[in-house]
Formats: sequence, C-alpha cells, structure tokens
Amino acid sequence: MTILVTGGAGFIGSNFVLDWLAQSDETVVNLDALTYAGNLENLASLNGNPRHVFVKGDICDRALVDATLAQHRPRAIVHFAAESHVDRSIHGPGAFMRTNIDGTFTLLEAARGLWSTLEGDAKASFRFHHVSTDEVYGSLSPTDPAFAETKGFEPNSPYSASKAASDHLVRAWHHTYGLPVVTTNCSNNYGPYHFPEKLIPLMIVNALAGKALPIYGDGQNVRDWLYVRDHASAIRAVLAGGRVGETYNIGGWNEKTNMEIVHTICALLDELKPDPAGSYQRLITYVKDRPGHDRRYAIDARKVERELGWRPAETFDTGIRKTVQWYLDHAGWVANVQSGGYRDWVAKNYGEAAAA
Ligand code: NAD
Ligand code: TYD
Repeated sequence: MTILVTGGAGFIGSNFVLDWLAQSDETVVNLDALTYAGNLENLASLNGNPRHVFVKGDICDRALVDATLAQHRPRAIVHFAAESHVDRSIHGPGAFMRTNIDGTFTLLEAARGLWSTLEGDAKASFRFHHVSTDEVYGSLSPTDPAFAETKGFEPNSPYSASKAASDHLVRAWHHTYGLPVVTTNCSNNYGPYHFPEKLIPLMIVNALAGKALPIYGDGQNVRDWLYVRDHASAIRAVLAGGRVGETYNIGGWNEKTNMEIVHTICALLDELKPDPAGSYQRLITYVKDRPGHDRRYAIDARKVERELGWRPAETFDTGIRKTVQWYLDHAGWVANVQSGGYRDWVAKNYGEAAAA
C-alpha cells in the first residue's frame, strides 16, 4: 500500500514522513515543489530507502498530479503543501492564494478523478486528509473559550484566509461529490527541522548567533504549542479512525505568551550553552507589531481524544528542551539553511534536474 504526501519536504511534512516510515510498512510518495521552505536534507536519513519516492512538482500542475496519482494509486493523500508563514503572506499574498487555494482545488479534482476509478473497499477506504490550522478560527480574547470544531471561521491574515478557503473547498468536495475527506486544524507546531523564520527556531538561532530576539508588539500574544511529532501521531490517528467528512482540532494544551516562550528558550540556552557575554535574555528586543496580529489562539482538543483516544505525548517542558537540544546538535543543518546551501544539497543528491 502507498500513501501520497504533499509538502513532505517542509517542516511538518518531513517529520510526518519520517514518523510514517518508522511506524508502518507502507511506501510514501512525497510530492513537493521545493520552494524556499522545502528542504530534502530533512529526509537525508531516507537516502536509498525504496519506501520513500520523491517527486518534485507543483500541486497546481494538474497533469503532473494526475500522472503521479495514476502511477502510484495511493490509498490516501495527506495534504501538507502550503505557503505557511503569516509574515510572508502580509508582504506577498499571491503565492498563498495560488498554492493554498488553487493548489488544494487542483489536488481535490485529481483525487476525485482517482477515487472515481476505485470500487468496493478501495473506494470506501480512500481518504483525502487535509492538514489545516487553528488560525482559520480567528482571534480570541483572554476569556473566550478555546476553539471547538463548531467555531465559525473568522480568518484575519492572508495566510489564514487562504487556509480557510482551502478548508471550505475540502468540505464542499465531500458534500457535493462524496469524496472521503477528513480535516485536521492544528495549533502552532515546534520541533526539529523548523525553518528559522518562525518564532521558536528564529529565537534559538538568533540567540546562538548573538543577534537580537525580535518580539512583536508587547509580547503578550498567546499561541497553543504542539510538538511536531505529536502532530504526526495525531494525523496517523485521524487518518486511521477519523469519521469521514469530520474535522478534528489538534492541540497541545499549552497556551503560552510569546514572552514566556522566549524566556524559556533563553533559560534553556543559558543552561545548555552558556554565553560568556551573559544571559541570552539581554538580546530580547521589542519591535513594531505585525499588522492585524491575532491576539490569542487556543485549541479545545477534546473531540480527537474522545473519539480516537489521541493526546500529545510531550509536555511543553519536554518538547522545548528536545527542540533546543536538537538545534544545538544540528549546527550544520542550521548553517545550510542560513547560507542557502540546502538547495545545493538537492542538486548533489538528486541531480541538477531536481534542483532546477
Ligand atoms: P512549510 O512551509 O515548512 O512547508 C511547506 C512545504 O510545502 C514545503 O516543503 C514546500 O516546498 C511545499 N510546497 C509549497 N508550495 C507548494 C506547491 N505549490 N506544490 C508542492 N509543494 C509545495 O509548512 P509547515 O509548517 O510544514 O506546514 C505544513 C502544513 O501544516 C501547512 O498546510 C500548514 O498550513 C499546516 N499547519 C502548520 C502549522 C505550523 O505551526 N507550522 C500549524 C498548523 C497547520
Ligand atoms: P509564527 O511562528 O510566525 O507563527 P503564527 O504567526 O503562525 O502563530 O509566530 C508566532 C508568534 O510569535 C506570533 O504571535 C508572532 C510572534 N513573533 C514574534 O514576536 N517575533 C518574531 O520574530 C516572529 C517570527 C514571530
């Protein structure tokens, strides 16, 4: 059996692929366009592994998606590919509309094409698993209840609006065409292979380089944080047992202000790699706020626990310690990301054509 993963060279996708291959004996076909966020070095440990088939390609390319599905006939599609960074969506929303909306539409149509050729058990058990975000729900006040699956969508950034649009398309393809879909809306992930443009890896990498730690606004914005391998296990659980047409919120039960996060990272670095110049906290710098900055996200993850028995394995304390240690142990990975060398790595390992 085979599953197709889109965006499997990105942060969450690559963690999912590594987890999947360790937990099951199925093959993974990994369709990824290798944008700036795609890094095959994350999957270096799979070199030569016949159960990982990498296809460089764009989910907006219908002919390529059709050909990939026809060749591999996956029993499920797990759709991670997206433009994912809110700040980039503010500066350049176009790519977000293209990949997150048009790309999801293209993939849904191609999946519907494959699914319509299936019969019996194969047709009934086929799944289109859409990986989405809690940001579609909008922003909470400090006293609002956490997001449940019944909460209406109120996206505020170009990123979250494009993801909300994709969630609506997935829902419609189920209701109109019967495509067997499941959607997961997850909170902020952190862990290994996180591109250092997002809060946690940026703070670790900047601190180690003695650079400023830029806090947007007053630093009191709240996010719920989930260790990325826990997200992978949640997706496995929903793919295996989630009810068709349902959405499941995935969260870590870890609401933290940005300041708490940055103080925790500084304290861990002070312990694990003390800087003779003094505590890393000296680098904390307040900067201009992000336009339209959502104040608080919080996830009510009781449905996935009740129906599927899933709960995160990591607490924030254990997950953040592992994460900081991972960055300390992988200075080469960080250096390659910062220098752009990870793109040469693709050419070296997959040939010039793959890197083009
Ligand atoms: P990422 O930006 O690290 O990776 C995205 C991957 O998609 C990259 O490998 C990139 O090359 C690929 N990609 C982009 N455009 C493509 C296209 N047109 N065709 C094919 N591949 C393309 O993202 P991530 O943080 O790993 O997020 C993965 C998914 O999870 C996204 O759908 C995101 O919305 C969702 N999500 C992320 C978080 C988070 O905290 N990072 C939280 C909840 C949900
Ligand atoms: P981010 O990691 O970009 O995720 P998202 O915006 O999708 O939640 O940001 C997490 C929080 O950290 C968010 O409130 C913005 C804030 N932030 C900073 O204060 N400084 C930074 O340099 C970055 C990247 C984010």
